[in-house]
Amino acid sequence: MLSREQVQELLHPIGDTATGRSMIELQMIRDIVVKGNKISLSVITLDNREGYGQALEKEIRERLQAAGAEEIHIRMREANEHERSKILGNSEAQTDQDKLVKGHAAGLEKNELLNDPDVHFIAVASGKGGVGKSTVTVNLAAALARQGKKVGLIDADIYGFSVPDMMGIEEGPVVVDGSIVPVERFGVKVMSMGFFIRENNPVVWRGPMLGKMLHQFFGDVNWGELDYLLLDLPPGTGDIALDVHQMLPQSKEIIVTTPHATAAFVAARAGAMAIQTQHEILGVVENMAYYECSHCGEKDFVFGRGGGGQLAETLHTELLAQLPLGAPDNHISEPDFSPSVYKSETTSGQIYNELAASIIAKCES
Ligand SMILES: Nc1ncnc2c1ncn2[C@@H]1O[C@H](COP(=O)(O)OP(=O)(O)OP(=O)(O)O)[C@@H](O)[C@H]1O
Ligand SMILES: [Mg+2]
Repeated sequence: MLSREQVQELLHPIGDTATGRSMIELQMIRDIVVKGNKISLSVITLDNREGYGQALEKEIRERLQAAGAEEIHIRMREANEHERSKILGNSEAQTDQDKLVKGHAAGLEKNELLNDPDVHFIAVASGKGGVGKSTVTVNLAAALARQGKKVGLIDADIYGFSVPDMMGIEEGPVVVDGSIVPVERFGVKVMSMGFFIRENNPVVWRGPMLGKMLHQFFGDVNWGELDYLLLDLPPGTGDIALDVHQMLPQSKEIIVTTPHATAAFVAARAGAMAIQTQHEILGVVENMAYYECSHCGEKDFVFGRGGGGQLAETLHTELLAQLPLGAPDNHISEPDFSPSVYKSETTSGQIYNELAASIIAKCES
């Protein structure tokens, strides 16, 4: 059974004849509803030449049938004046963004960064959302930078990008000589989908557009010299995670879990995917492992206990760190304010320093 997103992906290559842009991106193919093997959608056209509508309908049908759709219902009509000007306006508005996305057509195979044997790629994965992958990624990146490493961070979570906010980044990247210069924060060079999404852009064209963006993050970004490139993956074992795995066969992985047994069980799936793609698993990080009382120092295992250790055992790897529960004690008035980066001297900051040291030992020995 196809999902709505898959239908969008399948139809994304169909370009509008008037603007040359994807009809999905311009929302000329819209109202996509999938029920079992039945798909219905609307198409709005700008082109009224004879035969165009039939040819377009045929192409849509063929693409969907090839992917297993059985019953396809297509409503087709010409755009009215209002829709026509909106579509043409949108297509122009997107051109700037497109220039950034397409950049110069550096093929991945020619990509120096991806083929640089001196760069350690580390993907941070988890079985489910909300366990603290992004928190772990940004703090590990900052801790590696504190130890003098040159660090890049790609926020590969295309729907739920969060790294810019978590690190307190307010500015966007700039383009110099045709390549994008990442934003630097806490000594970490950051790229995120969030930099390119205008706040009220429709979710509709995010998927296909951003899939391409991820490729561009390697090709068209001027990373300079790097020792480590960390990737904050979206939760679970979806398409993007798989894309990243395939794009970076040399990447190593850290799996994040909470101490709850179920969370660890689900995380094992992410681990299994890493093993399938032959990525070396560096270890497990257990986040929200315990709550430490600020008065008596006693540890309370509020989310259960043992999940991280169990997962490490299942994946034949080690438990690299256990992070306590607690938000960073940062103040919005400070110049280096960030909602999610723990300062080096705090309990969590120290644990991240140790985690960074053990990652360095593992990668560079
Ligand atoms: N050790 C911790 N103590 C307290 N809060 C935490 C801790 N780790 C993460 N959080 C908070 O939990 C929430 C989820 O964390 P985070 O966004 O890092 O998870 P994620 O796995 O990246 O989520 P998603 O799957 O949505 O990308 C955030 O609000 C974060 O600030
Ligand atoms: Mg996240």
